[in-house]
Amino acid sequence: MHIAFFEVKAWEKDFLKEKLKKYQLTFFTEPLSEKNIVKAKQADIVSVLIYSHITDHMLSSLPKLKMLLTRSTGYDHIDVAACRKRGITVCNIPSYGESTVAEHTFALILALSRKITKAYAQSLNNDFSLEGLQGFDLKEKTLGVMGTGRIGLEVIRIAKGFGMNVLAYDMYPQENLAQTLDFHYCSLDQLLKNSDIITLHVPYNKETHHLINKNTLQKVKRGDLLINTARGAVVDTEALITALRSGRLAGAGLDVLEGEECLKEENHSDKKYLKKIKQLKTLLGMDNVIITPHIAFYSKEAVERRLQVIVENIVGFIAGREQNVVK
Ligand code: NAI
Repeated sequence: MHIAFFEVKAWEKDFLKEKLKKYQLTFFTEPLSEKNIVKAKQADIVSVLIYSHITDHMLSSLPKLKMLLTRSTGYDHIDVAACRKRGITVCNIPSYGESTVAEHTFALILALSRKITKAYAQSLNNDFSLEGLQGFDLKEKTLGVMGTGRIGLEVIRIAKGFGMNVLAYDMYPQENLAQTLDFHYCSLDQLLKNSDIITLHVPYNKETHHLINKNTLQKVKRGDLLINTARGAVVDTEALITALRSGRLAGAGLDVLEGEECLKEENHSDKKYLKKIKQLKTLLGMDNVIITPHIAFYSKEAVERRLQVIVENIVGFIAGREQNVVK
């Protein structure tokens, strides 16, 4: 059994080598792409992360492939239908970091609501005045949670600890949980109109592409904050920049960016990314925007849990006990 890992870090490699020593393993730090597909040609199992965009055409070069494992929760970078058609099992890691991502969501919210990065920058400049640093309380503010799956529900639990009111929007409302956790489901428009802070926890797919766009942003309460730890392309970046410039949004906390892969060094000179790079630089230059480099999942505990599930997924698949199969 030959297993090829892409986008792999040194600490993952050591753990995987130890736990999967029975198998032939190959490790690559770069994403799997059309250009380097030959590296996976002999693999029965391929494991990737979110910057490996797996297309039907790429699958045609992987004749031995039986299982494709993404070491992430989201699987929008994989053509799952094409895998299904070719009899390739796709697995993900659905649950390893919901509280971790929810905590990071609040790190972004608090950094904006209490102007932490601005205050820190002023302190570094020996400026200990309060000028421009007045924040606002979270208590009794309304948090609008889009997507009440694993992460969204953890965010709601934390929000209740802060004494916030919570409105939620989901394709599949879970009314029993709304009662237990004391929050209310509403329509998308109601959420946009009545929230002080909006936080995104939907997966990225055709329906959620640019869910936050020019039209939806026109409906938000003036001075709202927007938090995105889901996927960059759930938000139309151009519309976001306009809303931030006009004051419609008072700030944004972004762990994910539309086209974030273009910030990777190897993509800097790629023409198709130039517009995206320009937009992202604009966002980076705004003092009411906080950007983190897709680290919401990245805590010691979550990474350890994730490694454990990666191994369980692989060993289970080989033993004929498939788990975490993406349907
Ligand atoms: P989940 O599958 O448990 O929950 C997603 C929720 O969104 C579900 O309740 C679903 O009904 C709802 N939903 C789906 N499509 C919708 C639509 N069109 N409109 C309204 N609601 C919709 O997923 P989980 O674990 O909560 O993760 C959410 C996303 O967070 C992942 O798909 C991934 O993209 C992102 N993520 C980001 C991480 C980071 O490090 N920044 C780490 C882990 C996940």
